[in-house]
Amino acid sequence: MREAPREGVPEAGPAGGHRLAARALTLGYDEANPVVDGLDLDVPDGEVTVIVGPNACGKSTTLRALGRLMRPRGGAVLLDGRELATLPTRRIAQVIGLLPQSPSAPESVTVADLVARGRQPHQRWWQQWSEADERAVREAMELTDVADLAARPVDALSGGQRQRVWIAMALAQETDLLLLDEPTTYLDIAHQIDVLDLIRRLERTVVTVLHDLNQAARYADHLVAMREGRIVARGRPEDVVTAETVREVFGLAARVVPDPVTGSPLVVPEAPVPGRGTPRSTGKATPAWLPPPP
Ligand SMILES: Nc1ncnc2c1ncn2[C@@H]1O[C@H](COP(=O)(O)OP(=O)(O)OP(=O)(O)O)[C@@H](O)[C@H]1O
Ligand SMILES: [Mg+2]
Repeated sequence: MREAPREGVPEAGPAGGHRLAARALTLGYDEANPVVDGLDLDVPDGEVTVIVGPNACGKSTTLRALGRLMRPRGGAVLLDGRELATLPTRRIAQVIGLLPQSPSAPESVTVADLVARGRQPHQRWWQQWSEADERAVREAMELTDVADLAARPVDALSGGQRQRVWIAMALAQETDLLLLDEPTTYLDIAHQIDVLDLIRRLERTVVTVLHDLNQAARYADHLVAMREGRIVARGRPEDVVTAETVREVFGLAARVVPDPVTGSPLVVPEAPVPGRGTPRSTGKATPAWLPPPP
């Protein structure tokens, strides 16, 4: 069912979702050096956009600006064509959910309480907690496999458990747009895949930062490669993840081969230079765990 437009938030676009875009976005923490410089981005509706790029290239800064945690120094972030800076914060929180890279929980808050905070943008003074809130929190905790942890204090969890609780909080917000900064950090490989599968299953508009290029190539509909505050390549993973782009963006020599399972691009770094600093390298073309060529 299509939702009625809410005050201060433009009506959803033709696909039922809200449209997010950046125009000539310039961001920085001090006057001298912009961290992001003149960035243009159209976030495709209902798709998963993955941002990749080296450390400190401006990924988190960009994501924060898309979620209005940071004001642009130049240009604008547009939600359905209207400048984010002009919209009420609470309305934005009903449409855009943001999981920061290093969120911090209030001391001794329990898992259930933290996830429930995701519902704040939906609550009214006359109706503090509704059935819909209860359901959203329960579903979010089940989807992220944290229901069993509900009564535990967040600060007594493992890194991976905590990360899943934060994802649950973002999901409980039930926003059309979800911005996730490295949601797979701290997760073991099975939980990483769970989270990435979940992101695809949600069928919402997602923008996520990932460091694993192979996961990015597998899970992105739309891949954005950044370097030094600018976008250097964007498009379908098969067009973006090439040996040339990996070299240009990360300065890494790599081969790109088809992933044997999905056919998506798989980045395999070139053999390390043998010697010090590469303790597991045998210095031979054939790795030690494979039989020698005939
Ligand atoms: N709060 C801050 N104050 C000042 N400078 C900052 C702040 N946050 C980030 N920066 C700087 O802005 C630049 C971009 O940082 P950002 O966090 O956006 O990088 P990133 O691409 O997300 O990197 P990573 O992969 O390490 O998370 C870096 O040079 C960083 O030092
Ligand atoms: Mg970051």
